[in-house]
Formats: sequence, C-alpha cells, structure tokens
Amino acid sequence: MNIILLGCPGAGKGTQAKLIEKKYNIKQISTGDILREEVKKGTELGLKVKEYMDKGELVPDEIVIKIVEKRLKNCKNGFILDGFPRTLNQALKLDEILEKLDMKIDAVINIEVSEDEVIRRLAYRRSCRKCGAVYNLIYNPPKNDEICDFCNEPLYQRDDDKEDVVRRRFKVYKESTEPLINFYKEKGILYTINGERDVDEVFNSIAEILENIQKSK
Ligand code: AP5
Repeated sequence: MNIILLGCPGAGKGTQAKLIEKKYNIKQISTGDILREEVKKGTELGLKVKEYMDKGELVPDEIVIKIVEKRLKNCKNGFILDGFPRTLNQALKLDEILEKLDMKIDAVINIEVSEDEVIRRLAYRRSCRKCGAVYNLIYNPPKNDEICDFCNEPLYQRDDDKEDVVRRRFKVYKESTEPLINFYKEKGILYTINGERDVDEVFNSIAEILENIQKSK
C-alpha cells in the first residue's frame, strides 16, 4: 500500500507513520527525519538545509524531490510519505516519479489538528536520535525521565520546536501545504480524520481506512 500522511506540524504524522510501518510492514519516508540526519552528520546537504529548517521555512523543492525519488525506487512493498509533498510543485513531481515507477497512491490521510493543540504538543515533544522514537512529556511520556524506552539513549528537543518557529511553520503549512488537501480531494483519494484524539484512536481510524482499501483491491 502506498500512503501519504498530510497534516500541519505536530499533527502526529511521524507518530502514526511509525505505527503504520509496524502493523503493515511498509516503509516510512520522512523527509524531515532524512534532512535532520544530514544536518546532524554535517554533510554538504545538511549545511545547505539547516538555515531553512531553523527558520521554519521549506527546503527548496529540488532538494527534497531528489531525496524522495531515490528512496521510492526501493519501496516495492509500499511506502508512507510523511512530510512530503508539501507544495503543489512537489505533488506534481511526485505524480511524474510514480508514473515512471509504475506505482500509484492508494490513500492520502489528512490528520486535522488545531494550531493551539500543535503549540502545546510541540513544546513537550522529545525524540530519540538513535531509533527515531517520538514522545510527548505530557501525552505519551517515556517510562524513565527523558530516556528512550527502546534504546536507553537520552532524548532531545528539536531546534525548530521553539514557539516562534512553530508559529512560522504553521503559517508556511497554511500557505504552501494546505492547498494539497483540495488537490487530493479532486483525485478522490483523500481521507480526513480528527487528529485531536488519543494516539490509539487516531491509529484505529487510519487502520479502518487502510483495511477498507485493502479489501477493495
Ligand atoms: P518535519 O520533520 O516533516 O516537520 P513537520 O511536518 O513540521 O511535522 P512534525 O515532525 O513537527 O510533526 P508530526 O506531524 O510528525 O507530529 P509528531 O508525530 O512528531 O519537517 C521539518 C522541517 O524540514 C520543515 O520545517 C522543513 O524545513 C523541512 N522539510 C521537511 N520536509 C520538507 C518538504 N517536503 N519540503 C520542504 N521542506 C521540508 O507529534 C508531535 C508531538 O505530538 C509529539 O510529541 C507526539 O508525541 C505528540 N502526539 C502525536 N500524536 C498525538 C496525539 N494523538 N495526542 C497527543 N499527542 C500526540
């Protein structure tokens, strides 16, 4: 199955992508995680994208399109795109890439969450650099204070989770990414769900959508 997760910053795309990956054995492609990894390693690409990410701006389309194209070639079992596409241009390029690879999108899941909830969530988000697990110190805390449950590594807070940067990211989302909701609605593959519920409840809604799609294949 090939899935896109749409939603504003902090909507829960990464959290849900990991649950989908585990249950359905399909690969998560998170452009944010890939870019952060490049920044962490201090590669040429990392240095180039850091300034955009720190300000909450989008990285130029050609950079992220190249990253996604390379990974899609190894996803014959299916993929979950998390954080891509984010502009109409990226969505159009994705269509071209998928056509060349003889693949298609089965579902675009739009996770809806309000700006106030996002600000609350991101201030308390902590992540593990080693395994990528994402926690929230209030809603889903690790068992031991700021230590990853899976690999015992200390958790870290993302640089772009400061309130002013989060507000900028939200504005960028509204301007550049929200129009994709209509783009995919017109293609008849959009499913919108309420993201302001427990992680498990949100996941159950996604699983129901995916199982209906599987049955109809
Ligand atoms: P990216 O990493 O993709 O950030 P984002 O889209 O802003 O999304 P987040 O990772 O902040 O949130 P999420 O929806 O994954 O939520 P999460 O599950 O973590 O991108 C970062 C930057 O990279 C961009 O600003 C841009 O510069 C660049 N970039 C990336 N892709 C790009 C592209 N395609 N084009 C151009 N530039 C690009 O959850 C958030 C928190 O809430 C966590 O603490 C979690 O535990 C908690 N939580 C999750 N679900 C729930 C729930 N149901 N209830 C309560 N808490 C919850």
